[in-house]
Amino acid sequence: MYIKELSLQDFRSYEQLDITLANGINIFKGDNAQGKTNILESIYLCATARSHRTHKEKEIIRWDKDCAHVKLRIKKKHIEDTIDFHLSQKSKSALINKMPIGKLGELFGCLNIVMFSPEDLQLIKNSPKERRRFLDIELCQIDKLYYYALRQYSKVLKQRNLALKEFFKQKDYSMLDVWDMQLEEYANTVITKRVAFIEELNQIAKEIHADISGKKEELEIIYMPSVDAESFREKMLKYREKDILYQTTSIGPHRDDLKFLINGMDVKTYGSQGQQRTVVLAMKLAELKIMKKYIGEEPILLLDDVLSELDEKRQTDLFKYTENTQTLITCTGIEQSVWNTQKIGKLYNVTKGIVKPQNNI
Ligand SMILES: Nc1ncnc2c1ncn2[C@@H]1O[C@H](COP(=O)(O)OP(=O)(O)OP(=O)(O)O)[C@@H](O)[C@H]1O
Ligand SMILES: [Mg+2]
Repeated sequence: MYIKELSLQDFRSYEQLDITLANGINIFKGDNAQGKTNILESIYLCATARSHRTHKEKEIIRWDKDCAHVKLRIKKKHIEDTIDFHLSQKSKSALINKMPIGKLGELFGCLNIVMFSPEDLQLIKNSPKERRRFLDIELCQIDKLYYYALRQYSKVLKQRNLALKEFFKQKDYSMLDVWDMQLEEYANTVITKRVAFIEELNQIAKEIHADISGKKEELEIIYMPSVDAESFREKMLKYREKDILYQTTSIGPHRDDLKFLINGMDVKTYGSQGQQRTVVLAMKLAELKIMKKYIGEEPILLLDDVLSELDEKRQTDLFKYTENTQTLITCTGIEQSVWNTQKIGKLYNVTKGIVKPQNNI
C-alpha cells in the first residue's frame, strides 16, 4: 500500500498542508523545528489512533484552534481507501471512506505502518513499558482479535485495581473471583498471541541481524511473560494477598517484557550502543516482513531522522530490505546512502511549516 495524498488542517505547525506522495522514497528535508516530524506523526495517528511522541494528543491541535484534521488517500493492491481523522479538545474520531467508525481500533489494519525514530534506538535500554508498546502496536496492526483482547484486558484490569481499592476500605473481597475469571480469559489470548508473534519475530530478526552483522553475531529475542497462560489462575490466587495489600494487580501481561541476547549476552546490560542499534534495526526490518506476510502487501515505512544515527553499511542494509516499500524520510541533510538508492520519488523542502517540492534532485 502507499499514501497518495495527505492533507493537514491545524495540525501542530500546519494551518493547511496538501501534498501528494510518491510510491517510493519521499524525503522531507529541513532544519530543526520546521515541521518534518509533524508530518510523520499525522500518518502514525491515522494508523494507530495515537501519537508516537505524546500521550496528550490535545498538544497536536494547532495553538489557539479547537480541532485538528488529517486526511489520507491510500492506494492498496485492489482498492483505494480514505481516512479522515478528527481531533478536538475533548475527543478523537475518524471516518474510513467517509463512514464514521464506531471504535478507533477499526483504524488498525486500514493503514499499516512501521515507524523508526530516534526514540526506538532506546527500545532496549528503556523501560519494559516501551517494549510492550512496541509489541502491542505491531500485533494490533496485524491481528484484530489481539486488539480486542488487549482492550478488554486493560478495561478489566482497571476495574479490578479500582475494586481492590474499594474492597480495601470495605474489607470485602467476595467479588474478586469474578474479575479474575474475566481477566484470565483475555490474558490467555494476549499471552498466547504474544508467544506466537515473538517466536516469529525472533526467527526473522535473527536472520536479518546475522546478515547485518556479517554473520558474526547471533541474536535471540526472548519473551519474558510476567505469568504464562497455563498458570495464570494459580498465580493470581498466589498473589492475591499481595494485590490486596498493595491495592494493585501485580502479575499479568501488563508486566511482560522482552529480552535480547547476542551470542548469549544480555544486550541491555552489556551491549555496546552500536550493538543495540543493530538489534533495533533488525527488529524494525523483521516487523516490515511480518506485516507484509499478514496483510498481503507492503506496509509504509516512516523513518524519522534515523539515517544519520546509523553508519553507512546499516543505512545501505536498510534500503536493501525496503525496496518496493513507500518510505517517508525526514532529515536535515541527504545521506549518501539515499543518493545511492537512486529511487528518490519526491523531495520536499520543509521551512517554517511550508512544504515545497523540489523538482530537480
Ligand atoms: N500544537 C502546535 N501548534 C503550533 N505549532 C506547533 C504545535 N506543536 C508543535 N509545533 C511547532 O512545530 C515545530 C516542530 O515541528 P517538528 O517536530 O515536526 O520539527 P522537525 O522539523 O521534525 O525538527 P527536528 O529536525 O528538530 O526534529 C516547532 O516549531 C513547534 O513550535
Ligand atoms: Mg523531527
